[in-house]
Amino acid sequence: MNRKIALVGSGNIGGTMAHLILQRRIADVVMIDVQEGVPQGKSLDLSQGLALEHKSGHCHGSQDYTDLKGSDVVIVTAGIARKPGMTRDDLLSINANVIKNVAKGIKENCPDAFVIVVTNPLDVMVWLMQKELGFDANKVVGMAGVLDSGRFIHFLASELGVSCEDISSFVLGGHGDAMVPMVRYTSIAGIPLQEWIDRGWLTQEKLDQMIDRTRKGGVEIVNLLKTGSAYYAPASAAINMAESYLLDSKRILPCAVQLNGEYGMNNIYVGVPVIIGKNGVEKIIELELNESEKQQFEHSVDSVRALISDLENLGC
Ligand code: NAI
Ligand code: 2OP
Repeated sequence: MNRKIALVGSGNIGGTMAHLILQRRIADVVMIDVQEGVPQGKSLDLSQGLALEHKSGHCHGSQDYTDLKGSDVVIVTAGIARKPGMTRDDLLSINANVIKNVAKGIKENCPDAFVIVVTNPLDVMVWLMQKELGFDANKVVGMAGVLDSGRFIHFLASELGVSCEDISSFVLGGHGDAMVPMVRYTSIAGIPLQEWIDRGWLTQEKLDQMIDRTRKGGVEIVNLLKTGSAYYAPASAAINMAESYLLDSKRILPCAVQLNGEYGMNNIYVGVPVIIGKNGVEKIIELELNESEKQQFEHSVDSVRALISDLENLGC
């Protein structure tokens, strides 16, 4: 039987993910969206593209959640982005209602699927998704850390004039300005980043600028695009996670996962490195943080907790 990935939300990220999945021949695709015609139109366009690439694969668009049946993975981008004049609470409650609706569709139609949430505000939406689904937490994850790490790696590679393939790094914490790019766990061809600074190949000032740019990576692209947010890199990030699950690759990726005592946190979703394999989140990797990293991580977790309590106060 063919593997199947359901994409709930067929906008910019949804469409780009469908393209990646089909081009990499990872799985068949079903695209769902509230906008009639959009997933159907994109599916048809993508299928015609496959014919030109001489590739096989199936893509189908729908408004009907029963089409989720048989999905191994569901990736959720459904929702809206914050528009001018809209408060953070407006966005929270609108997207929370979308997530609740999507959770119902997943629960009824593919209760064994691995669920990846992308919709913002990410850490809160994935927390809500798991609560609504009631699935084991290892089957419900959020995508942000892979994207944020990719941004940091890109900035480092450009600054140092090296290939991004040789850089290993990750970002801890929530998907917001308080995220923590982990300098101490960053290496280039195995050489710790700190050594590059000690040898004068990179200044601390430049590094601080890149950390700040990573933290504000989403806003930088929103300001450039003016009519939407980033979608190519977010799509690649989510597909890397789905692929590790489907192929049982056991990649170590920073994902928003439920913490139950790890890092001293409970009942929260936040980004930490995890192993993703055929059982979903197979292991949460707990690092020994130093005092400064701990403080920054706790600050980032506090901002996620504040959003969760806003959501609860809104009665969502
Ligand atoms: P988009 O606006 O292009 O697509 C969203 C789609 O969701 C639209 O086609 C819309 O019709 C659909 N939708 C709305 N309500 C729905 C519902 N109830 N059921 C099904 N579909 C519904 O947005 P884009 O660029 O694809 O981004 C999607 C989300 O991902 C946004 O919330 C964005 O902020 C977030 N995002 C998260 C990132 C992360 O790192 N976690 C990175 C980039 C974006
Ligand atoms: C991003 O980081 C807006 O969360 C979105 O690109």
